[in-house]
This record gives sequence, C-alpha cells and structure tokens, in this order.
Amino acid sequence: MSELKSEHASTQQQTPQHQSQPLWLLAELTYKCPLQCPYCSNPLDFAAHGEELTTDQWIDVFRQARKMGAAQLGFSGGEPLVRRDLEQLIAEARSLGYYTNLITSGIGLNADRIAAFREAGLDHIQISFQASDETVNNMLAGSSKAFEQKLKMAREVKAQGYPMVLNFVTHKHNIDRIDRIIELCVELEADFVELATCQYYGWAYENKEALLPTQAQLERAERITNEYRDKLAAEGNPIKLIFVTPDYYEERPKKCMNGWGEIFLTVTPDGTALPCHSARMLPIEFPNVKDNTLQHIWHESFGFNHFRGDDWMQEPCRSCNEKENDLGGCRCQAYMLAGDMNAADPVCSKSPHHQTILDARAAAEQSGEDTPITFRNERNSRVFARG
Ligand code: FES
Repeated sequence: MSELKSEHASTQQQTPQHQSQPLWLLAELTYKCPLQCPYCSNPLDFAAHGEELTTDQWIDVFRQARKMGAAQLGFSGGEPLVRRDLEQLIAEARSLGYYTNLITSGIGLNADRIAAFREAGLDHIQISFQASDETVNNMLAGSSKAFEQKLKMAREVKAQGYPMVLNFVTHKHNIDRIDRIIELCVELEADFVELATCQYYGWAYENKEALLPTQAQLERAERITNEYRDKLAAEGNPIKLIFVTPDYYEERPKKCMNGWGEIFLTVTPDGTALPCHSARMLPIEFPNVKDNTLQHIWHESFGFNHFRGDDWMQEPCRSCNEKENDLGGCRCQAYMLAGDMNAADPVCSKSPHHQTILDARAAAEQSGEDTPITFRNERNSRVFARG
C-alpha cells in the first residue's frame, strides 16, 4: 500500500456539510461460508480478520443506524445462516422498524428455519444460484449437494408465503445458458430474478480473465433476456427479469454506491464500517463500531468523508462536465486497475488508465473454458472444466 490514511487524519479535515443519511445498512454477519464461489466479493484475506461482533454488538449497531434514519437492513456474509443468532437479530431489527432482507445461498436453510424467520418478521429472502444445471452449479459452489438444496429451499420459501427472489451471477461459464436459467426460474415460479453479470471485486477480480464474458456473449444474453421478457409478459407471467451488465463494457463509469457515504453503510463481521462493501481493500484505515459511534463514523471519520463531494478529484474528473453524473466512478475499481484510489475510474474512456479495461476485454476474447479459476477455498482451486 502506498499510503495509509486513517482516523487520525480526520482531525485535520473539516467536517463537510452534507445531509446524507445511511438509509441502507448491510450487516455482513460473518465471512464464514460453506461454499467457495470463485466470484465471492469477500476480501481475499477474509480469514485474517478479527472476531465477529456479538449479538449485542450487532443489535447496538442496528439501534444506532435506525436512529440515524436507516430503513432497510440486509443480512449477508459470507453465509449469514451460519450465525445461530440470526433469528434473534431479525426479530430485533423488525422491532426497531427495519425492512429486513436475507441474502443467502440457501445452504443451511430448512423449512423450520424459514418458519422461524417468518415468525421473527423477516420481510424478504433472496437465494443465489451459480448455474441452471446441477453439474456446473455444484462445481462452482464446491458442493455436490448445493443445487438440489437451493431448488428445495427456493420452493419452500415460496410455499411459506415469501415472494421468490433469485439471483444468478452470470459469467463466461454460464452466460451462454441464459435461456436455461430463465426456464428454470419460470419453472420455479420465481417472482424476481436478478441476472447479474459478475462484478470484478474480491475473488472475482482474481479470476476476471476466466470469468469476464465477451461482448458477443453479453449482447446475446441480453437479447435473449429481452425476448423472454416480452414472451412471458404476453403470457401474463408476472416474473420480473433484471439483467445487469458488467461496467467493463461501458464507456462511462457507474455512480458507485450512489455516491460515497450518501446512503450505504456496510458493517463487516469484525465491526469495520465501510461506505461500500469492497472498500476494505483501499489504503484507508476505516473506523470500527467497537471504537466509535455510527454518528461519528458517518459524519466525522476520514474514511466516510474523504470521497464525499468532488474536492478529492484530480484530472480528468476535476474539470469534467459529466462529473456530477458518476462522481468519478468506483474508488475500488480505480485502486485495483490504476493503483490510485483518487484516479478516475478506468472504465471511463477519458481515463488515462482506460487501456486496462480494453486489455481485460481483449483477454476475455482469448480466454476459454480451460482458463484456470482460483476458488475461495484454496484447497479446491483447480482448472474449471465444464461438466
Ligand atoms: Fe467500492 Fe465502488 S465498489 S466504491
């Protein structure tokens, strides 16, 4: 790391006058997970992080954030089902008035637990799949039983009165089967389906050469999704298909997290507070809820203030007439691709580092089914072979 900016620096920095509130709280309850997805967004060194927050510490975080205006609370991980106090955390969150959302792989779920979540007041469950067929799904997940369990749990979630919300992370190895993925969702009577092409952070960044689809693959998948959308709507099927493309094929970056420190607050398993779930990779010492109140963290910490507004920008962002649209793009991506967290997001065609994106697109054209993939569980890292 070339620089480490920390809390101590915040004393020299004036607190900006901003009106933002942490409306969306993401509680990453644990980094533990029984799966090993090669596009996991957890930090690469997740095992090196400190002890998980206790039940009481989490509840205190929920209380503080709610007081500050947070309305939506997502439980994620790792795999949040690993936490045995999940039911209690949900119940506390609901009693505080949050809309609650569980983001899970479905591994570790059963009918009794779904009923307990319902009893606790959980509003929404999203189950993620790796692929539309058992072999590829289980290969990517690193579990021979994952696919069957996911199907069973998706049906059970619906049977217990929840809308069925599915998430398929698409990439080079499954995107050509988008029709089969959609057919499976229809068969399961899904209500909402997110067909999200992998975003290249964490383990996905390590594997981007093997995972980034080609432009032709993406265009085909989007066209097929649009055709299904029209056909299903004409048949009166209310399923909502949401197609998300990777910004590696854009010419302008996204306004990441809807603006740094604007509405999103992530708290990691050890209590580190982040303006985005990937920010831990940046050379900034982010504050921890064990040492600071959320009020201080959100309004006064260096980590949350540094990229608010546009004072931090350098050229070409500083004088760009489009800077309000994207606020310079993604800070994590700038750090990963340009080696400078203050640089313009290299996705932008005006960035001097845009070539890194063009190189990644070219590499995607060259890479094939046998390009090695590193799995989150290193013991199982291997060359991926499509089943
Ligand atoms: Fe961290 Fe974009 S993912 S700022």
